[in-house]
Amino acid sequence: MIYFDKKTKTFYLESKNLTYSFCVNRYGFLQHLYFGKRIDREDLTSGVCLVDRGHASNIAGAFRYNSLNEYKNECPTYGRSDYRESMLAFNFDGVRVGDLVFDSFDVLDKKPSLVGIPSVKGGETLVVKMKDGMHDVAVLLYYTVFEDLPVILRHTEILNESDKPFVLDRAYSFCVDLPSKKWEVITLPGAHLRERFIERNKLSHGIFSIDSKRGVSSGQMNPFMALVRKNTDESQGEAYGFNLVYSGDFIFKAQIEENDNVRILGGVNDYDFSWELKPSERFTSPETVMVYSDKGLGEMSRAFHDLYRKYLINERFVSKSRPIVINNWEATYFDFNTKKLCKIVDSVKNTGIDTFVLDDGWFGVRNHDKSGLGDWFVNEEKVNLREIIDYTHKNGLKFGLWFEPEMVNEQSELYKAHPDWAIKVEGLTPCTGRDQLVLDLTRKEVRDYIVESVSKILREYPIDYVKWDMNRSLTENYSKWLGVNGKETHHRYVLGLYDICERIVNGFPNIFFEGCASGGCRFDPAMLYYFPQIWTSDDSDAYMRTIIQYGTSMCYPLSSQSCHVSVCPNHQCGRNTPFSSRGDIASLGATGYELDTTKLSEEDLMAIKSQVDKYRLNERLILDGDLYRLNNPLEENLFAVMVVSKDKRVAKLTAMRPISIPNGVETRIYAQGLDENAHYYIKELDLTLSGRNLINFGLLVKFTNNDFATIDYTFEKR
Ligand code: GLA
Repeated sequence: MIYFDKKTKTFYLESKNLTYSFCVNRYGFLQHLYFGKRIDREDLTSGVCLVDRGHASNIAGAFRYNSLNEYKNECPTYGRSDYRESMLAFNFDGVRVGDLVFDSFDVLDKKPSLVGIPSVKGGETLVVKMKDGMHDVAVLLYYTVFEDLPVILRHTEILNESDKPFVLDRAYSFCVDLPSKKWEVITLPGAHLRERFIERNKLSHGIFSIDSKRGVSSGQMNPFMALVRKNTDESQGEAYGFNLVYSGDFIFKAQIEENDNVRILGGVNDYDFSWELKPSERFTSPETVMVYSDKGLGEMSRAFHDLYRKYLINERFVSKSRPIVINNWEATYFDFNTKKLCKIVDSVKNTGIDTFVLDDGWFGVRNHDKSGLGDWFVNEEKVNLREIIDYTHKNGLKFGLWFEPEMVNEQSELYKAHPDWAIKVEGLTPCTGRDQLVLDLTRKEVRDYIVESVSKILREYPIDYVKWDMNRSLTENYSKWLGVNGKETHHRYVLGLYDICERIVNGFPNIFFEGCASGGCRFDPAMLYYFPQIWTSDDSDAYMRTIIQYGTSMCYPLSSQSCHVSVCPNHQCGRNTPFSSRGDIASLGATGYELDTTKLSEEDLMAIKSQVDKYRLNERLILDGDLYRLNNPLEENLFAVMVVSKDKRVAKLTAMRPISIPNGVETRIYAQGLDENAHYYIKELDLTLSGRNLINFGLLVKFTNNDFATIDYTFEKR
């Protein structure tokens, strides 16, 4: 609900359980008043602490002591007495000071989609127009509220209403000033094969920032940040979560200033960025999702999960039963032929696995990763694609195919024909990554080629599933088409990526698309808009996956995490884990298999069948359930999560005790999310206990006597 109080010129934005409020103050700028638990619509404008601080500067024309630095501000710019980080930075032919004041506002029943950038489908939206009269610039601030979720969406548009071009040096999506509360910050740093390892730090005076400069949202740092209080844990305390719906260079900052307040802001990274706006052009920032919880990180995460499942991820697939795949990558790598692939299909046909995915190596000349990318035509000498698809379909399985549309190898037909289509700087040997170059998606003809060559395969062959991969970060921040302004390249690359996703994904509405970037190196909400699930990590080791999947669940739902059972010793880290443990951990997402099933015994294949059957029985929990993180494997010798159906009738508890300790202490797991007044039957233990007791008395869990043992219990309300 959006409400404007004319007397105090205050906006009250009310989502489920939260209030976000700001006013137009007497100087005409937007003064932030409050963001937190739902409060009453009272006059909040008194809440500014004005004192005579030496060595400050005042708002132009205002009485002394009245510095912008003392105000909480919805849209700060630099150069007018606010010395904290600014949200926007202009360059009007050398003049870098902007002066934005309130102009007007509008309330829309439904948020319009962002032009060229994926966004959350939103309802009631406030649009506030600010104007810089001197330079004829308008800034539109968008705020969307949700009756059913504790979420506010924000993004910004900047319009050139003058007859001269100007340059944006910074165009963040949002800024919010919170009061001093001794904040701590949670982020998701990582790397390839160890993405999204949760980290928690104290904030101190100065600027804490996380970012990506790689052209992708990155596995090194996810575009997610949470501000929490010292006492906040999974089930109590305040948590503010911020997640950017964007797949490129981002930045989030948290600045503790002289009065101990904290300013949080972010958007497209302004490192090596600028954007020229010609007369009547508009820059649209990506959208920031802001979640508030006063009941800890668990509630914050569940709000993100619900938001993405209800309003972001493709509704054709989001809550539908997912394909259970057998993927040939770790089974064969590049070394396959039609016969070998058919044998894999043969081996799984009675297991319940229902989709065969042919990974890298079927196209161009691609027997290793040094050649072939860009040549999206079948390597007939290596594989008969039609035969393998027919064989797969005849055996009752669906067929999936791998692409890496954004890339080119120097050893390829495409590169021979169009060497200038790769991002590079003339005269400089380009940096390669996995021996490949990045195609210049800022150019229309390059995008058209990608769309046409990928679509041709999808039109000619009956393909049910596509894995869309992307295996390197960008370098040589320059595009020939852009002329000299390399500072626009990364953002234009991302806009180009959304254009080809839009055309290919929407061009084939019946094909299920999975995202991937060397595993989880581009796992962000904008990618989820196109891909209902993303390959969470190239690390398929069950123990490492407990840490990666735990971190990923901070803001991304289980159904968005693609998780496979692979062979042991594990190809990435050499670890041996029980087959049942690999199945249990992979069942906490969109599950599948990635190993040479032709080498498995009948007994192992039967084990797959029972894992798949159990998965299908519990699949609704993975698709729609509420996740409760119980034990963090980075902090203790235990990983445990519980998924509970919305109506609390069924639940599942999955846990791993990584290291077996002889004569070890008992493992008692305290359930969460159950109905306290109901009784639950735990099938695997043939035991019935009340929800209240499972939560407070806990459940004594017995692991088998080996490392990396797991349990996976199902609960049914009696
Ligand atoms: C990336 C992906 C893998 C696989 C290979 C193929 O690393 O993450 O799953 O598809 O590429 O080259």
